[in-house]
Formats: sequence, structure tokens, C-alpha cells
Amino acid sequence: MFENKKILITGGTGSLGKALARRLLQHDPKIIRIYSRNEFNQTRMRREFGDDARMRFFLGDIRDYFRLVRAMEDTDIVFHTAALKDVVGIEYNPFESIKTNVVGSQNVIDACREARVGLAVAVSTDKAVAPLNVYGATKLLMEKLFTSATNYVDKDKHPTRFIGIRYGNVLGSNGSVAPKFIERIREKKPITITDPGMTRFNITMDEALDFILGSASKRKDSVVFVPKLKAYNIMDLRDALFEMLGSTECTTGRIRAGEKLAEVLISSDEMRNTLEGDRDYIITKEADGGHDPEAEHPGYRRARGDSVYSSANAEKLSKAEMIKMLRPLVERPADY
Ligand SMILES: NC(=O)c1ccc[n+]([C@@H]2O[C@H](COP(=O)([O-])OP(=O)(O)OC[C@H]3O[C@@H](n4cnc5c(N)ncnc54)[C@H](OP(=O)(O)O)[C@@H]3O)[C@@H](O)[C@H]2O)c1
Repeated sequence: MFENKKILITGGTGSLGKALARRLLQHDPKIIRIYSRNEFNQTRMRREFGDDARMRFFLGDIRDYFRLVRAMEDTDIVFHTAALKDVVGIEYNPFESIKTNVVGSQNVIDACREARVGLAVAVSTDKAVAPLNVYGATKLLMEKLFTSATNYVDKDKHPTRFIGIRYGNVLGSNGSVAPKFIERIREKKPITITDPGMTRFNITMDEALDFILGSASKRKDSVVFVPKLKAYNIMDLRDALFEMLGSTECTTGRIRAGEKLAEVLISSDEMRNTLEGDRDYIITKEADGGHDPEAEHPGYRRARGDSVYSSANAEKLSKAEMIKMLRPLVERPADY
């Protein structure tokens, strides 16, 4: 699927973009183009990748359609990961995220069509489900733009397939809860749990990469892929870390604005258009009259129409599983 292909990653210097580039290099692509704005981050990444000749670095903003078209010339696959994603900063500067996450994503779509890219994959988040904050709302719109991108185009003229991938916070990623707790417990400083009833889905960077590349290989169009994941309770995460590192004081705070008690990856309304496979779900577009999603997606069956796919009701990780999963992070912080 990726061998000998020319691939472009928007936001290629970000946590996900870098890990994706590293993983894709193992698949012998012809070229990987990194597209982002910050020159210093590109220089640093070029060095980190040992000046690999297959890596190309394009300075550019996804708000700039013409630059995107130039960067995408003769490209087979685009992974769209560029986004503004700091929830607090975005609440304060909402329109900037609309310009990047919404208008920028439409530019990516239009440029893919113009350059006749084969496949475009957009990475989304649980925050897009019944959004509580501007970040989530912009990512929901990005998903909608991707899944409706082929609504009224001539497939012969514009062959691009567009798919979305939706998952929750990556364990150990910058700003996520586990590294913060690990640092504070090590320093014997108190940790704060905003709500003891809080649950989250668990996905590691390796699992996220497996899922993105696996979904990209499925030759589908206009759907959003969601992985089947186990979840954990925040108190179990704390207890697992206490067992590994020793305990410290733990206080209870207040749930922050824009924060949810549970992560929802598929709402009950979306579930009506959702198909279930052995390891994932696919959310299809709203069914219209002569539309039979099951026939269109062999290997998938209709999901239970009334259920919500939430970290509150998902199967939970056992303590032993949590310790196993946290061990690498405790031994060495993630470099993403
Ligand atoms: N991290 C998670 O746990 C998580 C979970 C679910 C989904 N996601 C999604 O995964 C994607 C990647 O997340 P991440 O954690 O890798 O983010 P990140 O580390 O903040 O990286 C964001 C990347 O986007 C680039 N970028 C931002 N604005 C841009 C613009 N206008 N034009 C071009 N490039 C731009 C940044 O580089 P410059 O600033 O140099 O341009 C950077 O390379 C995002 O779409 C996010 O919504 C992340």
C-alpha cells in the first residue's frame, strides 16, 4: 500500500506527524513530504531523521491553497494531521482555529482534488462528538468536510478517496495526564484528580499508527473509522502509578470548562449509521433511501442502534494491563 508511494503529511513535524513519518519509512515509500509552518521544527526533524533523502520538507500553511497544490503535485497519499488543538487557546482565539481546522481542511480537500491525489486521510478526535468546545466543533466540521468531499464531483476527473480516523488522547502524548502524574509523583508533589468518576479510552501511539495505516489500506471512501478500545478509570490510573512509583498526596479538583467526564467516540445518534467490524467501527454517511451500508461494506454488520460508544461503558483495563502499558512511559518519557 505505501511502498514506492509519494506521501504528504500536513502537520508532519507534530507528535503524530513525526511518528507517522518514522513508521511510514519502514514501508519503503518513495518520498515523504512534511508540510508545516515552523522552520526550526523542520530543521530539527530533518536532523533527527538523519537527513534521509526520502524526506522532503515543505514550509507552508494549510491556509494557503496555492502552496498546498504545489506541495501535493504528483502525490499518492495525503495524511492530514495539521491542526490547532490547544483547547484553552482556541476558546480564546476561536476564529483562528476555524481558519486552520476548517478552512485549512477544505483547502487540503480542494488541493487533493486538484492534484488528483489517490487517498486523503484526516485525523480527528473524540472531542468532535457532540462538541463542548470550539476545538471539537472545528474537528467535527473537518470530518464532515472530508466525508462529503466526493458528494458532487466527477469520480473520473477527481479520483481522491477521503476518509477520517477518530480516536481519543494518545497515552503519554504531550500534555496528557499520565506524563504529568508521573512527573509529580516522582517529585513527591500532590496530584489533582478533577473528578474520581472520570474515564478515558486508552490508545498508545503505536496502536494509533497501526489503526491509521490499517484503515488507510481498506480502500474505503467517505467514512470515519473508530477503533475498538478498552478504557480506564482515572483512579485506576492513579493507583497503578502509585504502585509503580510510590504514592503522593492526591486532591480532588473541579472538572474544567470544556472537559468531559467520559470520552465518547460514537454518539447514540451516529450509531444508527455505524457498522461494526471485529476490531473497529465505521461511521457511514446518513443513510438515504436506496442506500444499504452493509452491502457496501462486506465484513461489517450493523452496530446496535441505541448504544453510545463511551469510555464509561467500554470494557476497562485491568490493573495488570495498566501497569504493563504504563511501564515504558515510567521507564522513558515518550518523545511525542
Ligand atoms: N495528540 C492526541 O492525543 C490526539 C488525539 C486525537 C486526535 N489528534 C489529532 O491528531 C492531529 C495531530 O495531533 P498532534 O498531537 O500531532 O498535534 P501537534 O503535535 O500540535 O502538531 C500539529 C502540527 O500541525 C502543524 N500546523 C499547525 N497549524 C498549521 C497550519 N496552519 N499549516 C500547516 N501546519 C500547521 C504544526 O506545525 P507548525 O506549527 O510548524 O505549522 C505541527 O506540525 C491533530 O489533527 C489532532 O486533532 C490528536
